[in-house]
Amino acid sequence: MNKLPKLDPRLALIASMVPSGARCADVGTDHGYLIAWLAASGKIPGGCACDINEKPLEKAAFSLSQYGVTSQVRLCLCDGLSGIRAGEVDEIIIAGMGGDLIWKILDDTPWTRDPALEFLLQPMSKGEHLRQALWEHGFEIQEEQAVEAGKFVYTILRVRYTGKPQRIGLYQAYVGALRRESSPAAKLYYERQARRIQKKILGMEQSAEGNQRLEPYQALLKQLEGRDSSADTGSV
Ligand SMILES: C[S@@+](CC[C@H](N)C(=O)[O-])C[C@H]1O[C@@H](n2cnc3c(N)ncnc32)[C@H](O)[C@@H]1O
Repeated sequence: MNKLPKLDPRLALIASMVPSGARCADVGTDHGYLIAWLAASGKIPGGCACDINEKPLEKAAFSLSQYGVTSQVRLCLCDGLSGIRAGEVDEIIIAGMGGDLIWKILDDTPWTRDPALEFLLQPMSKGEHLRQALWEHGFEIQEEQAVEAGKFVYTILRVRYTGKPQRIGLYQAYVGALRRESSPAAKLYYERQARRIQKKILGMEQSAEGNQRLEPYQALLKQLEGRDSSADTGSV
């Protein structure tokens, strides 16, 4: 077997969520470790490693050659998915970017509206924006798993297009399909989200125009802290 790159817990969790045999696009590949690991381990036959910048793509080329999978992974210098043809891959990984940029990359590419495609998305920030945009545009978050990475906790979303847009409330936007009891990292994610909302409420209380919007966030805080399991009514 080929030598494998060492993955940190975040990339290792993403790798574990990739279905065996999938043809993958790793968008914003940077160092290329993830796609190099997937191909070198034999979990996937190959795919594309894309990046908008030349330097990261050079690093990815080096990783692919170091782990003996250059011929299996096409390197692509492109913005988002613009260098990939419809039908070329069946799994699209976009990790390590802000939620707004991840959504923009999906939204800019018409062929992402295909129920046959699966997406693994890992926002570094603005996860609530990404979840809301996905659901409102007919994508469904089918699973979410959390992972601790240094001081941070991230979630990885498994997503598919269903063509059925849904309006979601604040609670779904902030924790998505992640179940609190699914892992210690998931519990920690809920705690961190609750802390963010506490700060947001404090900020709103101090601002004159805040009072009107306060109630949904107070209800959200209760839900995140497990003090209220009633229906989600607020909107983002
Ligand atoms: C922080 S790195 C994440 C690397 C890797 N995906 C990970 O999760 O460890 C973000 C990478 O995305 C690339 N990037 C940023 N915007 C992009 C876009 N619109 N299309 C493709 N790549 C992009 C950057 O050049 C950078 O290499």
